[in-house]
Amino acid sequence: MELPFELRTAIEEMLEGQKPEQLKKVSAEITRRYKNESGRDGHMISSDLEAKVYAAVRMPATYGAVRSALSYVFECICSDCWVNSAKYDELDLRCEPEDVSASPVMGKTIPIRSVFDIGAGSGAATWAVYDALDSFDQSSPVQITCFEREAAMRKIGEDLMKADPGLSASAQWKKFDLLTDSLPAKADLVVSSYVLNELTSSARGAAIAKLWEATEGILLIVEPGTKEGFAVISEIREKLLAAGASLVAPCPHDGPCPIAPGSSEVNRAASAKKAEVTRATSAVADDPKNEETDDWCHFACRVARTRLHKQLKDADVPYEDEKYSYIAFARIPQDSPLTISRASSRVLRHPYITKGQIDLTLCTPNGIEKTTVRKRDGDTFKRAKKCKQGDSFTY
Ligand SMILES: C[S@@+](CC[C@H](N)C(=O)[O-])C[C@H]1O[C@@H](n2cnc3c(N)ncnc32)[C@H](O)[C@@H]1O
Repeated sequence: MELPFELRTAIEEMLEGQKPEQLKKVSAEITRRYKNESGRDGHMISSDLEAKVYAAVRMPATYGAVRSALSYVFECICSDCWVNSAKYDELDLRCEPEDVSASPVMGKTIPIRSVFDIGAGSGAATWAVYDALDSFDQSSPVQITCFEREAAMRKIGEDLMKADPGLSASAQWKKFDLLTDSLPAKADLVVSSYVLNELTSSARGAAIAKLWEATEGILLIVEPGTKEGFAVISEIREKLLAAGASLVAPCPHDGPCPIAPGSSEVNRAASAKKAEVTRATSAVADDPKNEETDDWCHFACRVARTRLHKQLKDADVPYEDEKYSYIAFARIPQDSPLTISRASSRVLRHPYITKGQIDLTLCTPNGIEKTTVRKRDGDTFKRAKKCKQGDSFTY
């Protein structure tokens, strides 16, 4: 996946003429702050230069995470819209039966006309939403509001959006503190990416309630794919299920989470599998995934690096893999056009492929299940071959 061309170019132009050594220094300081000071309601970015460097260094990854999560969410709220769509193939997210009869995505609509991006930063989630909605026929332009506390972020976010006149016309920016301000209205889609983990745990409960209160259709929350990020997602899952929200993705069920902090189901399943395969083949025993002793639910997306990004991160490879955790809920009034069809199971780990067979670790309504799909399973095997961690899977 790549950032939209307009955004990529705008970021590069914005930093033109700046000394790479200075940018790297700022980037290192931002990384240090996020590592050591997150979760304390602190101000992580406050100067213009910091906001610019944040945009160059982090926007590709957070854009990728939100864009991937949105694809999975839209698949669950509008399953027939996505199968067979060119966009979907492009993102390489499909893992559905190939014989599902469905029309291409254009000509399909999605009931999202208004969007709130809360803690919008430099606008990564908004760019991702705008791109995802572009795959649908919209009868009227979507109205997006980016709510952000830091003036420097709002300025850079607004400037970058000017690179896409359509987006710029759809989006407005508002000064907003999630801890103290009220949201002025509700939106069909509320997104908050990489924000709630910055709050203290005591402030988070009220913030989650505020986001849900503002949601008329879908609420999507994306957090880093770390143990801490997943703990935030688990907390949100528990709170919103208790509030009666309908869970959309990634979970195939709304029962207790088998990987939530404190649960050891995945670890037990991994250890049992390891013991089993150690006996069977040494090749599988060498798989580092089987060494897991501690686990959390997260997915990953691969985003292309620009030359500038490689330079700022001292990276060799032309891509980065961003790990993220997410959760999406829906509020479905009786006459709503929204319908949910949750994944029947979700691929939790990288599929392990050996000759003629694929081992999958799946989250299912019955908990974590390990399954082996063999060549003789025909179509199921073909689908398993295309599967990635995070995909839905029917078997
Ligand atoms: C890590 S950045 C993520 C930005 C963007 N959502 C993304 O995915 O790239 C976190 C953003 O949340 C904002 N933020 C943190 N606490 C906030 C609060 N209490 N109210 C509003 N915004 C807040 C920060 O200013 C920052 O721009």
